[in-house]
Amino acid sequence: MMGLATLLITSVASATEVFVLSASPSHMRALAASCAACHGTLGNAVVPNGGGNGVDKAKLLAGIDKTDFLTKMLAFKSGEREATVMHRHARGLNTQEIEGLATYFSAQTPRQPSALPSQVLNKNHAN
Ligand code: HEC
Repeated sequence: MMGLATLLITSVASATEVFVLSASPSHMRALAASCAACHGTLGNAVVPNGGGNGVDKAKLLAGIDKTDFLTKMLAFKSGEREATVMHRHARGLNTQEIEGLATYFSAQTPRQPSALPSQVLNKNHAN
């Protein structure tokens, strides 16, 4: 326990280490996973731009232009860009994290949405 406390104090004390932590690949994957509920796994939303509610309007992030991502995220963070939810997400991230996510999502391959095909059910529910 003592060791852990010392470790924490040492890492917080060093600005360089804090930067490394905030930009590390595993930290980026963890942050990107927090976007997946609305923007899909690896930024591939299942229903990009469709539907009527806010969540359905969430866009595909996979393969997004890095500058476009940075501009939008910083505008969400400052409140300059109007948003239903994104201003909250952006405010929780620091600039290094936003830059790291820009690199992360721009490097992902966009895929075709793969919504399940509709099914025709028999009246007797046999199928
Ligand atoms: C609760 C759902 C939700 C989560 C979680 C979420 N977003 Fe969003 N995102 C949205 C919605 C909805 C919009 C449309 C703007 C708005 O109304 O907030 C959006 C818009 C965006 C846009 C602008 C897309 C464009 O081209 O206009 C970016 C970039 C973005 N989100 C990035 C992220 C990142 C990065 C995360 C994770 C840190 C994240 N979002 C988490 C719902 C979400």
